[in-house]
Formats: sequence, structure tokens, C-alpha cells
Amino acid sequence: ALAAPVPRDLAGRRILVTSGPTHEPIDPVRYIANRSSGKQGHAVAAALAARGAEVVLVSGPVQEADPPGVRVIPVESARDMLAACEAALPVDAAVFTAAVADWRVESAAGQKIKKSGAPPVLALAENPDILATISHHAQRPRLVVGFAAETENVVEAARAKRQRKGCDWIVANDVSPATGTFGGGQNEVHLISDAGDEHWPKADKAAIAARLAARIAAALQPPAAP
Ligand code: CTP
Ligand code: CA
Repeated sequence: ALAAPVPRDLAGRRILVTSGPTHEPIDPVRYIANRSSGKQGHAVAAALAARGAEVVLVSGPVQEADPPGVRVIPVESARDMLAACEAALPVDAAVFTAAVADWRVESAAGQKIKKSGAPPVLALAENPDILATISHHAQRPRLVVGFAAETENVVEAARAKRQRKGCDWIVANDVSPATGTFGGGQNEVHLISDAGDEHWPKADKAAIAARLAARIAAALQPPAAP
């Protein structure tokens, strides 16, 4: 069967997407990271661009190719990612799929830490919350979408997260190892909004991204009054 053509209903819209993990330096050669592959975030950026949006993709270090028609801004740390996101404003919508490291090493060493003596003890500091910062920003996008990575009580935890962070929607996914979500090709999510909780059954990350892009296009219609 022929797939229905994708409508260009996001033409003229500017959308910010974050993707991938962040890397938090310990010293010039070592870092703290996580298992995010960037597959879902890059697929979201591609799906939005396919509907005609001007997409700015702020991405941590990933193996994924740059999606076609998307401006990619590569970053390493959470603080770099926040600065790049703020620089991208104003946008009509923002989708935060990145697995931002919650903590950084408080004072990264300027030189490689040597093995002599006792093992180093790393003091951690909390990173800025990019989603919460943009949700409360003076230039808040009309639509702010967060993701929630949970390993238990997925929907309840995501509802609380939506309230706490002040975003419009949360796309909640179960990242417990058995699901193979991190690094895998598929995802199963719940879209949590004002309207409640909608379950989207397991599908390719590209299909989840296409469905989310269609919802974003619908939410941004009709255009804001000039
Ligand atoms: N997020 C962010 N900046 C951070 C941490 C998270 O922008 N410093 C965003 C993620 O991109 C995602 C959402 O917030 O869209 C939820 O991330 P998650 O890690 O699930 O939530 P946390 O608030 O960090 O809570 P926890 O990890 O303790 O569950
Ligand atoms: Ca987190």
C-alpha cells in the first residue's frame, strides 16, 4: 500500500529539539554519560522537518547521522546544551528528548588525573534542568514537550514530572533494561497532557516520532494571531 503523503503543515514553524546524552567531564580524557542513543530525538527532528518545520536540533554526542533538512548544533555537557537551547529561542515549540546528565563533576580536573595515591572521590553538582528552564522562560515556546525516562510507575511518575517542570505534554517511556528502549529501534509510550493519558503501543521510533509530529502540527493550528 502507498503511504499517505506527509502534509507540510509545519511550514513556517521553528521548532527546537534536544537529543542524545550529555557528557560531563571528569578530566580532559574522562566523562560521565548515560545509555541514550539519540535515536528517538533524531527521529523526532526528522519527522518535524518532513512536515516543513525549521528544526534546530541540539544534540549531545551520538552515532546517529544528522537528519536531512535539520540544523544540528553539537554539544557535550548539560550546561552547553542549555546555552544552545536559549540561543535558539524564540521557537514555536520545543521537544526535549535528550537524556541530560542530572549531575556533573563539581570541579573537573584541568589535567588527566593520575593513578598515584588513593582513588579520587568525585564531588557532584546538580545540572540545570533545561526543560524546566525553557518552560518558565520569558520567551517560552507555545508548546513545550518533555520526555520522561522511567523504570517503574511510568504514568504516575510522568504526571508528577509534567506538573513539576511546567511543560504542556510529557511523552513517558519505560526504559527498564528488559524493554530494550535505550539503543533499541522501538519505543512504547504514554502521551500525558491536560487531556489525560494516551497509550501509544510499541512501534518503531520513527513511527512514534511521526505520530508526535502530527500531534504537534495539530496543536500549533490555527496559527497564532499576528
Ligand atoms: N531534562 C532536562 N534537563 C535536565 C534533566 C532532564 O531538560 N537536567 C529533561 C529531559 O530532556 C526530559 C525531561 O526533562 O524531557 C525528563 O527527564 P528525566 O530524566 O526523566 O527527569 P528528571 O527531572 O531528571 O528526573 P529523574 O531523572 O530523577 O527521574
Ligand atoms: Ca534525569
